[in-house]
Amino acid sequence: MLTDTYGRKFSYLRLSITDVCNFSCNYCLPDGYQCGSDRDFLSVTEISRIVATFAELGTKKIRITGGEPSLRKDLPQIIAIAKQTPGIETVAITTNGYKLLEHIDSWLSAGLNSLNISIDSLDPRLFNTITGHNKLPHILKGIDKAFELGCTNIKVNSVLMKSFNHQHMNYFYDWLKETPVTVRFIELMQTGDNTSFFNEQHVSGTQIKDDLIAQGWQQKIRSQTAGPAEEFYHPDYAGNIGLIMPYSKDFCKTCNRLRISALGKLHLCLFSDSGISVRELLQSPDNTMLKNEIAQLLTNKKSTHFLHDKLVGATENLAMLGG
Ligand code: GTP
Ligand code: 5AD
Ligand code: SF4
Repeated sequence: MLTDTYGRKFSYLRLSITDVCNFSCNYCLPDGYQCGSDRDFLSVTEISRIVATFAELGTKKIRITGGEPSLRKDLPQIIAIAKQTPGIETVAITTNGYKLLEHIDSWLSAGLNSLNISIDSLDPRLFNTITGHNKLPHILKGIDKAFELGCTNIKVNSVLMKSFNHQHMNYFYDWLKETPVTVRFIELMQTGDNTSFFNEQHVSGTQIKDDLIAQGWQQKIRSQTAGPAEEFYHPDYAGNIGLIMPYSKDFCKTCNRLRISALGKLHLCLFSDSGISVRELLQSPDNTMLKNEIAQLLTNKKSTHFLHDKLVGATENLAMLGG
């Protein structure tokens, strides 16, 4: 198993398959991330080599991300390849849900195990304001379809913003009474070019955590390999709540993931580096050099990100937030 100098074990790969996105979330990219549309994203062969190599290094879970991964027509094939790779136990995707209703069937048939969907508001008008798309009812239908088809491992991501959805969290609590999903409230992260938006809109998760506990939500025990979300359950609710608080002090202690960008760069952390290309090493079916390179690069992984520092990340990291 890949282990870093701080003893953290890496059994989870976030694999971005495109930088392109069809939404334009206000905290992300005002016009959607379209500039990559004609770029040369990883091919299916390259993806299969990456997955096989990481699996040989102990990776058990692959999360397919973007941009918006469902914009790639070969997504079902990519899911199937990942799922059939010896050693890979779980294949997940993170999506904005736009294509869920039409395609969940083919994703599940290909072997998908779990689904994270970004829904920043359950108020259709606010959803439209945040994402630039009037698609909330369609996405919720997609979630119903996923349930119908037997998919039970569904998480919803909601990035908290002070003057947008923060005052509307009750919509989510009401929904969770009957809906067996995990809603994760995510602290807005600062990227290279959202500084003023970040300063105006960032909400800390610590107050929310205190409120949840006061309302009888109980915190699940977090294993060393659980990843960064803290999770809560409540006897009166069908669903759970998660908090993703990258500004909390121990956030990176349970880090269990590495990232590969859609252009084949290895990122040791979402924020701490701009990535090192391993693409050339993907051109050969012999993965010995690639394996050595990944193990060697991992020795440079830092104990934590630098979100607390004043100057944050390069613009390049924008796409990596999703990825
Ligand atoms: P699971 O733990 O497998 O459910 O997935 P996840 O929460 O890692 O994946 P998802 O793609 O749903 O990401 C949710 C949020 O967490 C997004 O805002 C990501 O950018 C953020 N995130 C995920 N991993 C990290 C991380 O290692 N560091 C930081 N700072 N943020 C992360
Ligand atoms: N801060 C926090 N989360 C973000 N995401 C995208 N940009 C940011 C940001 N600046 C989230 C999306 C999606 C996930 C992949 O990343 O909402 O749920
Ligand atoms: Fe697209 Fe994700 Fe950015 Fe929204 S947050 S615009 S879904 S990449």
